[in-house]
Amino acid sequence: MRGFVPTPSKLVDHMVSLLFEGRIVGSEEHLLDPGCGGGAFIKGILRWSAAARTQLPHITGIELDRQLALEANSQFRSNPHVSVLEGDFLRTRAC
Ligand SMILES: C[S@@+](CC[C@H](N)C(=O)[O-])C[C@H]1O[C@@H](n2cnc3c(N)ncnc32)[C@H](O)[C@@H]1O
Repeated sequence: MRGFVPTPSKLVDHMVSLLFEGRIVGSEEHLLDPGCGGGAFIKGILRWSAAARTQLPHITGIELDRQLALEANSQFRSNPHVSVLEGDFLRTRAC
């Protein structure tokens, strides 16, 4: 892939805190990260959740680029709260 730049973690942390601040996140909630790249926002959610001692929602990342999807998948493979799919998020069906 040409020109891929992941979102810097400091910016990710700021955006994630804007999204979650003051919210009670339940483990039954489901969060979609469309175009997750190598997992920058998934990592940010894991950091936020650990710092805030909240439950983790189930997070699904979908990434079109095979290498990035593999990269994300290898990072979160052992985390039961995270699924990474390779594909087009506009065409991926929930099941
Ligand atoms: C700007 S990058 C952001 C990656 C990551 N979210 C981050 O912030 O570091 C956009 C990503 O979306 C992916 N993407 C673009 N269109 C997509 C689609 N229709 N389905 C899945 N992924 C897509 C690209 O391959 C790329 O990795």
